[in-house]
Amino acid sequence: MARQRLPRPIFDYIDGGADDEVSLRRNARAFADYELVPDVLNDVSEIRTETRLFGQPSRWPLLLSPTGLTRMFHDHAELAVGRAAARHGLIYSLSTMGTTPLEDFARAFGGPKVFQIYIFKDRGLTAEFITRCKEAGFHGLMLTVDTPVAGNRERDRASGLALPPKLTLKSLLSFALHPTWSLPALTGSKFDLANVSHKVDALAAGPMSLFDYIGAQFDPSIGWRDVEWLANEWGGPFAIKGVMTPEDARRSIASGATGVMISNHGGRQLDGAPAPVDQIAAVREAVGDAPDVICDGGVRRGSDVVKALALGATACSIGRPYLYGLAAGGEAGVDRALTLLNAEFERTLRLAGINDIASVSRRHVRR
Ligand code: FNR
Repeated sequence: MARQRLPRPIFDYIDGGADDEVSLRRNARAFADYELVPDVLNDVSEIRTETRLFGQPSRWPLLLSPTGLTRMFHDHAELAVGRAAARHGLIYSLSTMGTTPLEDFARAFGGPKVFQIYIFKDRGLTAEFITRCKEAGFHGLMLTVDTPVAGNRERDRASGLALPPKLTLKSLLSFALHPTWSLPALTGSKFDLANVSHKVDALAAGPMSLFDYIGAQFDPSIGWRDVEWLANEWGGPFAIKGVMTPEDARRSIASGATGVMISNHGGRQLDGAPAPVDQIAAVREAVGDAPDVICDGGVRRGSDVVKALALGATACSIGRPYLYGLAAGGEAGVDRALTLLNAEFERTLRLAGINDIASVSRRHVRR
């Protein structure tokens, strides 16, 4: 439905990945390499799925990943996603590149809140975010580290996607063919990188491409010392997003993180990076039992989450699955996506003879 509803360049921005999209495809397909090995005759009339992420309660082990530019997909943007997530008892992480000011987002929700942060060239901007998140009552931070430079998203290059979108002749046709797509997304409410535009004035600088914008703000020189700095400034639950190896996972925890998100940015950055699901077991072994280990990317079925838990993950996290829902039907679309995934998750647990996620273990999965 998202594909039908959105102008092609906008759909491709969600759907696409870097270079040949090998990691993008592999992220999802890798789950199929694992078999679920069921127990039988275990009372599954009641099942327990509650867990904690970033120290906060979550009704089942799923997190909504941060995604930027959300207003391009639906006028109700982050608030629609947040409302649907809250109804499902799930945590949604707001992106630095989001289109809703973090204070407005925080005011709208009483529940657990996580903010995704970058370490920008201007450390003052990052420090300001930390202060704003504390004042607004965010519970956790996630630091994205797989974006030292922008990935090579060739679909976006071809369509001329820019900030705001540049209507090239070819793109224009696609926009014209989608009159139901919420043009208010770009014109009605103010389209803005609401959390950074006051500092970087990205939009005032004119029709600058997304690649140029990211290239100018992201700091390719950051290192572990910056992680320690962030951990100290923040002082609360915080995960590093984009970790792939057991060594880096161990280093993340040693540098002050309380969790890691195994992620290749949904195949949008380093093409050829391993699928997150394939890294779970080694990462869990490296960090021990306590830290949150979140498998981010490629989840397209609730059963994928069961596989990830069996391999040692605390939870999975999703981007496109809820964005397709948002584009297709706003808040109701996100709600539908989450309902489907949850039904699949619970059905899989029952079919696998598991009545408590705490008892999911390595013997339930085989590669
Ligand atoms: C993203 N992702 C992302 N990550 C991040 O840390 N900050 C961001 O602003 C964004 N923006 C963004 C936009 C869009 C349109 C997509 C699809 C993704 C990556 C996201 O958080 C997550 O890592 C992936 O989406 C996970 O892969 P799946 O679930 O889409 O397969």
